[in-house]
Amino acid sequence: MELSRRGFVAQGAAIVSGAICNKPEAFSKPNIRKTVSRPLIISTWPFGEVANKKAMEVINSGGSSLDAVEKGINVTENDKENTSVGIGGLPNSEGVVQLDACIMHGPGHKAGSVMGIERIRNPISVARKIMEHTRHVQLVGKGAQEFALSQGFTKENILTEKSKRKWLKWKKNNQKKRPEGSIDNHDTIALLMLDEGGNLTGGCSTSGLAFKLPGRVGDSPIIGSGLYVDNEVGAAGATGVGENVLRHCCSFMIVEFMRQGLSPQDACIKAIKRAAKIDPLGMDLNIFFIAVDKKGRYGAAGTGKGFQYSVTTPKQSGILDSAALSDIDAGPVGGNEFNN
Ligand code: GLY
Repeated sequence: MELSRRGFVAQGAAIVSGAICNKPEAFSKPNIRKTVSRPLIISTWPFGEVANKKAMEVINSGGSSLDAVEKGINVTENDKENTSVGIGGLPNSEGVVQLDACIMHGPGHKAGSVMGIERIRNPISVARKIMEHTRHVQLVGKGAQEFALSQGFTKENILTEKSKRKWLKWKKNNQKKRPEGSIDNHDTIALLMLDEGGNLTGGCSTSGLAFKLPGRVGDSPIIGSGLYVDNEVGAAGATGVGENVLRHCCSFMIVEFMRQGLSPQDACIKAIKRAAKIDPLGMDLNIFFIAVDKKGRYGAAGTGKGFQYSVTTPKQSGILDSAALSDIDAGPVGGNEFNN
């Protein structure tokens, strides 16, 4: 099925900043970016660019792709000014920061995930330890924290004064009104890497929806929802309203669409359209995706405008506007989605 590109090429190819501007020909057609030099690292949001650069640095100094993804995401987790990932993340309705993360490594189809962990600033690193040092995939809450401590992580206060003030304000003014997820309070980092050897690795980390009910878990630590990596095909990661990504298993769906031959950007678009078609929320789902395929093509799409993603290669780095479904002719999603 051909999707209309009305308003899309201009939006999807816009280069907002960075050295990527130096090679516009390589990026002028977002759906047919053929190859880029590897490693190729893409991540959600402009703040992902420093994480990408750290990941590149780790690879360049001899680290593995898992080291690169982990250390890259650690940069965002350690940024106290970022109120939706790691230390400084906005707390739940009781004022407690509960973090979620997962990591996937293409070779061996390995995965690790941690949910609702408290007082540990780097959940992506805990997820990696779970993947590498246990026979499990997911650990949650107290058990996850105990495991982290057994692995040498230290407990600390990860509720910053800034986040505490925001929570107190919410408590005073809006306690009865649960915040709706929006582009303003969902800044999950998902970071995907295609390494020099052609292998894919990805990670995802978040503090989740601000002022959530204690124990709430979104899409980010759920394999197939917030992140999915298939070393034969490609990888996808999500940001946005976790509940809506979760209900449609979006990252898995995007990888399956790439398996059928769609470009990463078209796969993101098709997954959103498919979810919106059957969901009462339609294009108000507030979900955003990045994807990369095994060939080194990449792309992004979201239900609305405003989502940007970061792309870094050995030669260039920059921030791109994603395709926005609000700009695209929302034509039919197609028939038998997994077989056409
Ligand atoms: N996408 C992050 C969350 O909703 O928890």
